[in-house]
Amino acid sequence: EKGGYDYFMLKEIAEQPKAVADTLLGRIGADGRLSLDEVRIPDGVLREAQKVVIVACGTAFHAGLIAKYAIEHWTRMPCEVELASEFRYRDPILDHRTLVVAISQSGETMDTLMALRHAREQGAKVLAICNTNGSTIPRESDAVLYTHAGPEVAVASTKAFLTQLVACYLVALYLGQVRGTKWGDEIQAVVKELAEIGTQVEEVLGTMEPVRELARGLAGKNTVLFLGRHVGHPVALEGALKLKELAYMHAEGFAAGELKHGPIALIEEDLPVVVIVPSPRGRSVLHDKIVSNIQEIRARGARTIVIAEEGDETVVPYADHLVRIPVTPTLLQPLVATVPLQVFACELATARGNEVDQPRNLAKSVTVE
Ligand code: F6R
Repeated sequence: EKGGYDYFMLKEIAEQPKAVADTLLGRIGADGRLSLDEVRIPDGVLREAQKVVIVACGTAFHAGLIAKYAIEHWTRMPCEVELASEFRYRDPILDHRTLVVAISQSGETMDTLMALRHAREQGAKVLAICNTNGSTIPRESDAVLYTHAGPEVAVASTKAFLTQLVACYLVALYLGQVRGTKWGDEIQAVVKELAEIGTQVEEVLGTMEPVRELARGLAGKNTVLFLGRHVGHPVALEGALKLKELAYMHAEGFAAGELKHGPIALIEEDLPVVVIVPSPRGRSVLHDKIVSNIQEIRARGARTIVIAEEGDETVVPYADHLVRIPVTPTLLQPLVATVPLQVFACELATARGNEVDQPRNLAKSVTVE
């Protein structure tokens, strides 16, 4: 049932190109227009909505953080992202003009369920992004966009995360379409690239051997830090979460700009720091800022593990280890940048003798609050 792989996690990492393609299937027309019939919330309601609020936990929360960038940039709607477990306790401001998006692989996470119940009691419309047909969260929502990752068995979420991202991008683009956001060249190009993104995920998977070797070499370390900016920040958080849950190591993700406000004090000789570098095209300011961050930490002794786009030569002098990812639009980069971090965590867990598919203390779906 593991299809020749040692662990379900490895199998599920390998299935990502297909999971992504399946989640896109039939949803983008030849003319680049989206048809999401399952989003049964009437277009009128989507047009009138004043803000989007995303609720989720863990890895799904990281997908939500990335979705915020896409929704705000493509639709100009304000978007908040909140941990489902915190949501209802702060008396959130919700009404019938709020679109709540609840993201959950299992569809059974109690924190997320309680958050969406609270939202609906306040009159908000709830759209679920879910991987499990007929589970509680989609049943209790106004509409559901299913991710088609197939069953995810390993406790650590991998393919579900990538498909959650795809679903979030689809929702963002669909909102733009319905609300008549100016469909500029940029969005047109993004839709085209999104439709083909499975190929790029496949490409990354084909180049992971050096990442595995690197991970094995770090098995004796106690701490790994992850840095990113913009959508790279949630990717850093996700990389750190994977490492915590699988390798039982201290791992933290930071927004690279926050470094100087405290975390830089953690940098010491040979501390592994993974840095996710945004594309040098487009938002080049962002790119240049992170290159300075890499220089700063390296000058203080960090062992830099740099994840950067093919052809980005500016990072080469500062990278102790360089991991290449394909060229993508800035907002889609998480789909390729997360993959090496999954492989890294999985290999480190194996090297440390941990149970990859069933990490200690964790359950696949958390049905208690
Ligand atoms: C991390 C992981 C968890 C889940 C979280 C939400 O690898 O698997 O953080 O993402 O418990 O679960 P779902 O998506 O089922 O609501």
